[in-house]
Amino acid sequence: MNEMSSGELREKYQKFFMGKGHARIPSGPLVPENDPSVLFTTAGMHPLVPFLKGQEHLKGKRLTNVQICLRTTDIDAVGDGTHNTVFEMLGNWSLGDYFKQESIAYSWEFLTSDAWLGFDKEKLAVSVFGGDESRAKDEESARYWRDAGMPTERIAYLDIQENWWPAGGQAEGPQGPDTEIFYWTGEEEPPQVFDPTDDRWVEIWNNVFMQYDRDEEGNFSDLAQQNVDTGMGLERVVMVLNGLNNVYEIDSYRALMDMIRNLSARTDKKQSRILADHIKAATFILGDGGGVTPGNTEQGYVLRRLIRRAVRAAGQLEIDDASRVLKEGAVMMIDEFANAYPTLADNRSLVLDELGKEAEKFKETLAEGLKHFEALLNQSMAGDTIDGNSAFKLYETYGWPIELTQEMAAEHKLAVDMGGFEKAVKRHQNISRKGADKKFKGGLADHSDESIKLHTATHLLHQALRDILGDGVLQKGSNITPERLRFDFSYSRKLTADQLKQVEDMVNYQIDRNLAVTKQAASVAEAKEMGARGLFEDKYGDKVNVYSIGEYSREICGGPHAAATKELGKFKITREESAGAGIRRIKAVLKPV
Ligand code: ALA
Repeated sequence: MNEMSSGELREKYQKFFMGKGHARIPSGPLVPENDPSVLFTTAGMHPLVPFLKGQEHLKGKRLTNVQICLRTTDIDAVGDGTHNTVFEMLGNWSLGDYFKQESIAYSWEFLTSDAWLGFDKEKLAVSVFGGDESRAKDEESARYWRDAGMPTERIAYLDIQENWWPAGGQAEGPQGPDTEIFYWTGEEEPPQVFDPTDDRWVEIWNNVFMQYDRDEEGNFSDLAQQNVDTGMGLERVVMVLNGLNNVYEIDSYRALMDMIRNLSARTDKKQSRILADHIKAATFILGDGGGVTPGNTEQGYVLRRLIRRAVRAAGQLEIDDASRVLKEGAVMMIDEFANAYPTLADNRSLVLDELGKEAEKFKETLAEGLKHFEALLNQSMAGDTIDGNSAFKLYETYGWPIELTQEMAAEHKLAVDMGGFEKAVKRHQNISRKGADKKFKGGLADHSDESIKLHTATHLLHQALRDILGDGVLQKGSNITPERLRFDFSYSRKLTADQLKQVEDMVNYQIDRNLAVTKQAASVAEAKEMGARGLFEDKYGDKVNVYSIGEYSREICGGPHAAATKELGKFKITREESAGAGIRRIKAVLKPV
């Protein structure tokens, strides 16, 4: 196969589907316009939800696009060969038009025909939905794959965690079984039988057959129409098409990676990739036209964290002028992507100004902060904990995002006293990060002991509500201050006094059992396996923390939590009210016993 560039793949893909009657539509924005549930667009379906539900699309029933996506859950994984925070998803859409048969036939033709990608058929395998008690096994898709020419032993049947989108069937909205397509990247010949746990099989494309809608109470119904939503990971496909083993070597990163290599005095693959990824992500966020600039809350905080992390990576690479490398890198990204994402060019001067300003501002304080940090290192030994006041000083005086301090501490085998840090924040009456905490800390206003206990109580409350009211209860929101917890969940009626009492009793019963709270890092697949509740935002393999309270509750969560339930005291519901259609809100407090 000849080399294929990102631009060529983008064009080829959309041209193929235009030849099949699809209209091309532009990428939706990276900062969602009407969706408060996510900070950034994480998959192609976000901007198209109304049309999957039946609203007529002006361009018709067959669409093709490329959607820029950002998954902040991957920020810590960046640095290996296959993770990016920002990536492109190629898609073709049927809005109540064709379904499984054509979708599979199109994918097969695009992948294997010499006129298109010309992949070796021997290196392809697929998975389809294996069914469960309430849902049928997707024999239909398997049959269409066999008809296309896929050998039976290359078709795996997997469960709802693997072959359903959004994964697990726990999210509200349009969804359905999917079929995923894998490509063999091993050096040797591919084995005859497809083993989906062998990571030399890399997932490259996901075809979702969206025929169901899940409501707030967890009930499934048929959508008004049968849709197809497919997502092909552009960077990964360019990588395998060109026989590469990491995405940072594909064409669109080449100039940027070369510049980083030339400017840096040290070779450090991980930091080079972090720098490249974060420059690209920051360029896309600023260049999206959504008005996000570095700040202390929500999207602005993510942007600030990305830029400051990039400045630190530049420092690690001994690149003198971080602001210059960020700005020149942004120019490269704008030139590379402006054709496909025109808002980048429209916002060129804004991107460069903001990047330059934020990098400059942080560069000096980073250097000053490093002196302080080194002094701390000199006083510590592996296994020690950096005290909260020192972490606060780095945060307040030197502008270090607390995550940066944690990362750098971990590099020296040190921990950070987060409880102490948050106490210091509180003492200084610094509430500026509240907005970001809402998204990053599971709704905690701070990390005071009180808030941490209320956070653990919130997990107990969530499970107790499901026990008493049924599985239709889904978390809709959580907000915790040192004084009280607030929990929003789906349920259609006002709770009776009796139900409230039962919920309260259940939580207090679990508190009295003095259950230990344990944390375990797991891949998304493992977390699902453990039955953890939470948002499976990314199917492509990030690590998450699973918090268990005895065997009673298990959730994917960023923490922090109390060590054991006895610490919580007595749980008391103070209010129950409506928080919108089909959503109830409970406020509760903990009292010392
Ligand atoms: N929405 C599907 C995904 O993100 C295609 O994998």
